[in-house]
Amino acid sequence: MSNAIVVRDLRKSYGGVHALSGVSFEVATGEVFGLLGPNGAGKTTTVEILEGYRRRDSGDISVLGHDPGDSPRALREQTGVVLQQSENTPLLTVREVHRQFAGYFAQPRDIDEVIELVGLTHKRDARVRTLSGGQKRRLDLGTALVGDPELVFLDEPTTGFDPAARRSAWDMIRSLRSLGKTIFLTTHYLDEAQQLADRVAVLRAGEIVALGTPAELIGVTRRTEIRHRLDGELVVLETDEPTRVLHELTTRALAEGRELEQLEVRRPSLEDVYLELVEEPGER
Ligand SMILES: Nc1ncnc2c1ncn2[C@@H]1O[C@H](COP(=O)(O)OP(=O)(O)OP(=O)(O)O)[C@@H](O)[C@H]1O
Ligand SMILES: [Mg+2]
Repeated sequence: MSNAIVVRDLRKSYGGVHALSGVSFEVATGEVFGLLGPNGAGKTTTVEILEGYRRRDSGDISVLGHDPGDSPRALREQTGVVLQQSENTPLLTVREVHRQFAGYFAQPRDIDEVIELVGLTHKRDARVRTLSGGQKRRLDLGTALVGDPELVFLDEPTTGFDPAARRSAWDMIRSLRSLGKTIFLTTHYLDEAQQLADRVAVLRAGEIVALGTPAELIGVTRRTEIRHRLDGELVVLETDEPTRVLHELTTRALAEGRELEQLEVRRPSLEDVYLELVEEPGER
């Protein structure tokens, strides 16, 4: 399988702040790759270097076979971008903004189809300044898709979305993936990463501290949590031998003729594992 993105030992400082201290990873063609990490970890810096919007200090990068540092036109034609902060012309309508973006590409998609895809048909003729926060974010997503890109960068694409809108954005990302597009995503929603990403990298203070499929990351901890209430008090047992511990617990309760109130057995989620990974040394 070919790689859409290859990053080797990427470094970037802003004055004295080391935003990226030697980051390496690959993104396979057709993969949804999620970059996770706390505020200030270096996600946007990474994404914007890959997009060609920021300069790196050092490291080798290939995006669809190009070096984004050279800002090649061919790369712009094949990538779609949702920035973390976007500013669309407030006085244009949703349709006009899409038409403007379509003008940048040799073979754009049908704009009404894209507007439909992001769920803004009813706001087609509304001016951007009248849109809600979530609707503006949908507009950003639409403009990223107008050029029918092979590779889509999404920097926190669903921040501010209501739960239903988030689900429909997920469906859209899945349908892009099923068309063979490559998607590079950053998010603070761990359920989003778990749902969508084939692989995730966790960035902490400019370094990758974990990389793999969500299942692999969760698999690293063998811990299982067994919870119940005893006389109203919550009892939490953590174990890597859930069968034995559960057996002992239930045997004792049966012998004493007690019910284990609110008994629950749970495996850690990606969020639990993530929180452990980024716990320290904390933000700068
Ligand atoms: N233009 C800039 N000038 C100076 N420092 C910057 C600049 N952009 C980012 N930084 C610093 O680099 C570090 C990484 O920032 P970055 O925006 O890449 O983080 P992030 O992971 O995207 O965070 P968030 O989750 O808040 O979006 C932070 O310490 C930030 O303060
Ligand atoms: Mg960011």
